[in-house]
Amino acid sequence: MTQTQIGTLEADLINRIASAADLNALEAVRVDALGKKGSISNLLKTLGGMDQETRQVEGPLINGLKQKITNQIAERKLHLEAVAMAARLEAERVDVSLPVQAGPLLSGRIHPVSQVMDELSIIFADLGFEIADGPDIETDFYNFTSLNIPESHPARQMHDTFYFEPKGDDEALLLRTHTSPVQIRTMEAGKPPFRFVAPGRTYRCDSDQTHTPMFHQIEGLMVDEVTHLGHLKWTLEAFLAAFFEVDAVKIRFRPSYFPFTEPSMEIDVQCSREDGIIKIGDGAEWLEIGGSGMVHPEVLKYAGIDPDIYQGFAFGMGIDRLAMLKYGMPDLRAFFDADLRWLKHYGFLPFDVPNIARGISEG
Ligand code: DAH
Repeated sequence: MTQTQIGTLEADLINRIASAADLNALEAVRVDALGKKGSISNLLKTLGGMDQETRQVEGPLINGLKQKITNQIAERKLHLEAVAMAARLEAERVDVSLPVQAGPLLSGRIHPVSQVMDELSIIFADLGFEIADGPDIETDFYNFTSLNIPESHPARQMHDTFYFEPKGDDEALLLRTHTSPVQIRTMEAGKPPFRFVAPGRTYRCDSDQTHTPMFHQIEGLMVDEVTHLGHLKWTLEAFLAAFFEVDAVKIRFRPSYFPFTEPSMEIDVQCSREDGIIKIGDGAEWLEIGGSGMVHPEVLKYAGIDPDIYQGFAFGMGIDRLAMLKYGMPDLRAFFDADLRWLKHYGFLPFDVPNIARGISEG
């Protein structure tokens, strides 16, 4: 091929590259020139049949052409990609400042219990707690035995447990009566130190004005070498102030008994009661909101943790109760009636995602 012919081919290809309107058109030019049977590839193949002298002249010309066209295609490709991206950004543009359009997002509501669970999780996450989880269907071992509640223990009867029919010789399963089994499961699966909360559903065969067969608890646990009751008190007060969105909250510990803690204390929160309205954070009255204590050495042993080295606190609180107190919902049973009017009134918009920086319930 003569120099002029190569020049013509080059001019033609450059022209086609420049006028390729999109990535597909550009790819077609690339295949025509550099593909297996492309014009430049064919030229390269002719090099083998040339005598030395011709090759010395034509070789650099053909290779130079190949290089040049490869570069031009790459450059054009970058340009076309940028154009395509700009077009896409323009086409998929969303104006996030527009008000929410009427539709499911506006009419649906988040249940107050779900909202409060999210609030609890972000407050404890902010305090450095992880969120742990466990199954609703539990074994006797995790729900009782490993929590230092042996077979004959009266606490087992007190829990009004729902049992499943046993299958063959297998141990009967049950619906967990508290979130405390998550203590053992989470400790078993990891290594100390631990700092986690576990919100979730719990079940007891119990139903009246203040009890429903399914309810919600949040468990908390912190275990390391130095954690003591002072840490528990601070953590609970910091949590309650954040949750009730007040400057400070006082709590009072009352001696109690739980098989899985020693010592064990009931947690009372300071409140006022005027005209039947309970306000948390001031006043001269106290309201019980949960149980707590230092994790019993036997419980640590069941979880494979050495109680001579490690110690820590645990607590458990009723989530439904916390929700009722915070949002002024008087009747627990309405939580589970699936009454749309109730949900419209007490529920939350999906956009009201709890947020530490903005204020927990500011929406
Ligand atoms: N599991 C107890 C219950 O449901 C509540 C509880 C009390 C949990 C004391 C704890 C605790 O972690 O330390 O009645």
